[in-house]
Amino acid sequence: MEFAGFTLRNNLFVAPMAGVTDRPFRQLCKKLGAGVAVSEMVTSNSLLYGSAKTKRRANHDGEADPISVQIAGADPKMMEEAARYNVDEGAQIIDINMGCPAKKVCNVMAGSALMQNEPLVAQILEAVVRGAGSTPVTLKFRTGWNRENKNAPTIARIAQESGIRAVAIHGRTRADQYMGEAEYDTIALVKSQIKIPVIANGDITSPQKAKFVLDYTKADGVMIGRAAQGRPWIFREIEHYLATGAEMPPPKVTEIHEIMREHLLDLYNFYGEETGVRVARKHISWYTKGLVGSASFRHAMNKLPTVAEQLAATDEFFHAQAAESERLRYEEDDKDSQNPEALAA
Ligand SMILES: Cc1cc2nc3c(=O)[nH]c(=O)nc-3n(C[C@H](O)[C@H](O)[C@H](O)COP(=O)(O)O)c2cc1C
Repeated sequence: MEFAGFTLRNNLFVAPMAGVTDRPFRQLCKKLGAGVAVSEMVTSNSLLYGSAKTKRRANHDGEADPISVQIAGADPKMMEEAARYNVDEGAQIIDINMGCPAKKVCNVMAGSALMQNEPLVAQILEAVVRGAGSTPVTLKFRTGWNRENKNAPTIARIAQESGIRAVAIHGRTRADQYMGEAEYDTIALVKSQIKIPVIANGDITSPQKAKFVLDYTKADGVMIGRAAQGRPWIFREIEHYLATGAEMPPPKVTEIHEIMREHLLDLYNFYGEETGVRVARKHISWYTKGLVGSASFRHAMNKLPTVAEQLAATDEFFHAQAAESERLRYEEDDKDSQNPEALAA
């Protein structure tokens, strides 16, 4: 796929997720089939550029191209400077967050709240395009700020006129937050009205759903967020299904054990032991969610404070899984798996 001046391996995007799509996770998703992985959002408040968190979020060492960095904020001047700063730091695509439903994003009314103020949207987009210079800028937003005001088509037109190179649309309004089901009619409508690429996002959880959304909306690509948590290989599964119409068999336990171990080592290395163990806990929880016999493993694993203990417990769990079955086996009635975040708190 041609996207913002890059030739991508496919049209599959990893959705930006604060606290999830750090460099280790983005690298892993790209390795396992994603064409683009957008970074966690970086504040446009330059006062925070020196903070450890912002520096870590701006770290792209060893990451495969294209490097897409998401920025958030409501002040056109600050957003322009943030675009310039991140391009200087190595961003190859600047993505603007107008999709986050949180009341305050980076301490200002940003994210999807901005969709209520179309003139301000135009000012921000023009400022960011100016700040990014020759680096392409993309925009992520929702279908509107509530169901009575689905102004995604207007925002998309403003984006196209402002020099935005592609848009990603989450099929919910700001008021919906994450409730209900994503709808794809508004995305299809936007796609029919603008020339720049449209990426469809929201509730895409399987290869079949990805194909359905692509066919239904005629979108140029799909973006996957929560379904990639603990299942970064979903991208190769979708890639395979779109190319052949056939499902891949579930992955081998030994392969996922290896992938996850490498991911954990990368996390420890990236965050240091204390934070690394905490971040890794969340991912281990997602990886093992729904696997046969995993609930008690997660309970025990959440109490382990060191890298050595976490790795040993993980190895033991996967060896036991491999002894039972060659391929990953999920069970439907794993109640604890319904709320892995709570377990990983
Ligand atoms: C934990 C989490 C963090 C998120 N952080 C961001 C973010 O920083 N920027 C953004 O534009 N969207 C963010 N989102 C929204 C996702 O990018 C995506 O639009 C949404 O989850 C719907 O896609 P999905 O159904 O595939 O998860 C976040 C979502 C989740 C679940």
